[in-house]
This record gives sequence, structure tokens and C-alpha cells, in this order.
Amino acid sequence: MNILGIETSCDETAAAVVQSGTTMLSSVIASQTDLHKETGGVVPEVAAREHILKIIPVIEKALKEANLKWDEINAIAAVPGPGLISALITGTLTASTLALIKDKPLIPVHHILAHIYGNWLDRNNSTKFPILVLTVSGGHNDLVLMKDHGDFELLGATRDDAAGEAFDKVAKLLGLGYPGGPVIQKTAEKGNPDAFDFPIANLEKNSLDFSFSGLKTAVLYEIQKGYGREFTPSTLDPVFVANVAASFQKTVAKTLVQKIVIAVKKYQPKEIHIAGGVSANSYLREYAKSELFKFDLPLKYPRNITYCTDNAAMVASCGYFMYQKDPEKYLKWENIQPNADFNF
Ligand code: KG4
Ligand code: ZN
Repeated sequence: MNILGIETSCDETAAAVVQSGTTMLSSVIASQTDLHKETGGVVPEVAAREHILKIIPVIEKALKEANLKWDEINAIAAVPGPGLISALITGTLTASTLALIKDKPLIPVHHILAHIYGNWLDRNNSTKFPILVLTVSGGHNDLVLMKDHGDFELLGATRDDAAGEAFDKVAKLLGLGYPGGPVIQKTAEKGNPDAFDFPIANLEKNSLDFSFSGLKTAVLYEIQKGYGREFTPSTLDPVFVANVAASFQKTVAKTLVQKIVIAVKKYQPKEIHIAGGVSANSYLREYAKSELFKFDLPLKYPRNITYCTDNAAMVASCGYFMYQKDPEKYLKWENIQPNADFNF
């Protein structure tokens, strides 16, 4: 079964074709990163205009690269939310229009659940439930117990900033640009992760929630200590910047893995998965491997870095497994409504 996935929830216009939920036949991503670099973050109206320009060429390219015609596509999966409403409208309207004129089932896929399926791509489907999943991105930071396809329990979430958002904000403070994750990872390679002892948020004992705004403030205070309240990011000493980046990155990894450890002990999953933009981080991957080794459980991250950040292959994969559970549910082209706060 071939599913066309469509993703426009933030600043990537993406389309992909995935076979049987796991085999990526094409994955096309038109990234707006360069556009948003100028403003140091995503401006929703700018993102929306760009989605409108890119959505049709991106879908056409995905079909071409998969070497498939419309009659070989069995269903369409697209994201109604959560995300930026002005961006979601383009993907959902395009998906429902295509479902109507091409007469295809239409599967609405939750963006965070789609991230979870980044770990099904390019793998055989030999997964054991329950799975403990950490989805960690710019807009979300959730710990989920996945008992089966379509059966998810939210165990914890961020109370303020998501980890990716903290990477982006700290990168801005350090004058490193946007998006923050990749550039902090690169800068941190030259720094000492033990140079600064940044705090881990002190929530109630065994809480599975996250909080990263205090860490961001601690970084700000550390910079102000050396450079004054009105510091200019571009004038910071490169060694200091590398040390702050490395220490910050280590604190984020420690915080995330600490929660995984609590949840593994409590819920006894058969696998541990990490997904979303921040799961691309190589320090986090290594740190998680070393700390979770003792549980002797499969630890999975998306196989390809492009399956960590926003893409449509994960949407198509999630759509496939939803469709398998209940094909009758997805027959109507009206099945999708853009919703910035869409819940699962
Ligand atoms: O999943 P995603 O593409 O979008 C959302 O759904 O939010 O995640 C984007 C986030 C950004 O905050 C970005 O800084 C972060 O993922 N990110 C990283 C890395 N690559 C992307 N964070 C840490 N290390 C990375 N290598
Ligand atoms: Zn995302």
C-alpha cells in the first residue's frame, strides 16, 4: 500500500510516498530555514506564503521520485495540527482537494504522533509494544507510552519551553543564528561540557514533566555575569561560547534521559524510542546510549537525520498504521480540519 504524506505544520513544505508504512519511496522537503534566518525565527505569515508557492511542486516531485502515478497511490495522509494555523491550512486544503478529485481515502495525522513514526522508516516492522517514546522538538516535548498503533498514553510534557525551543533561544543569546540545534551541536564540539554547572529544573519527585525555561535563564545570567546586562552576542569570546554551548547541551541531554530512566522503571517498556528534531543531536544520542545501556532494551532514533526534523515520510508512515486499524474511517475528503491545538 502506497501512502502520499503531506506536511506543512511549521516551516517545512514536505511530501513523501511510503510503502507499507516503512519503505520510503520518496521524501521531498522544501525548507524555509534560509528565509527565517533573517528574522531569527519563523514569522507565520511568511511561512504561510511560502507553503502556498511550494506545495504543488513538492507533491509533484514526490510522485516523480517515487516513480508512481496517481492510480498507484492508495491514500493521502496530512497533518491538521498541532502547528501554525496559517501553515496548516495549505497542507490540509491541498490534501482534501486531492482526496476529492483523485478519489482517495484521507487520513488526518497528528503532528507529534507522526514524529513517533520517524522510527519506523527504513526499518522492518519488528517492534515490540509497549514502547516508551520521547518526542522532542522545537514546539513540543512529550513522553508517551505507546501500547499499540493508535493507543498512546501521554506520561509527561513540557511545562514551558520545549528542548528544541531552548536550543533556539540559547543559540540566539550566544549569537549563533537559527535554527539553534545544529549550530549549538557544532559549536559544542570545541567546548567543555563541564565548564558550567547549569541547573536541572527541580520539579516534584518522579514527575515526568519537563521544564527548560530556567536553564535558558541560567545561560542568560552566566553571559551577563561576564559581559554585562546589555551584552552584544557577536562580541562574546568564542571559547566562552563553546563552553556555554557544550554545558547547555549536556544539561538538556541529562534532563531528557533522567525522565526516560524514571519512566522505564515505572512502565517497563520493551523498547525506548527518541524522535523529533532534537533526536538528531549526536551528543544526546551518545549520552542516552551510555545511560540506558543498563536496561538492555532496544534504543531507537530515526535512521536518517531527515526523519528527525519535520518531514512527510513520517506522516505517511503514521497514516498507514492508522488506516490498517480502521480503513472505513477515512473515506471522506472532508475528514480534515486545520486545528492549531489538535489533540490526540
Ligand atoms: O521536529 P522539528 O523539525 O519541528 C517541530 O516540530 O518543532 O524540530 C525542530 C527543532 C528546532 O528547535 C531545532 O533547533 C532542533 O529541532 N534541532 C536540534 C538539532 N537539529 C534540529 N536540536 C539539537 N540538536 C540538533 N542536531
Ligand atoms: Zn515537528
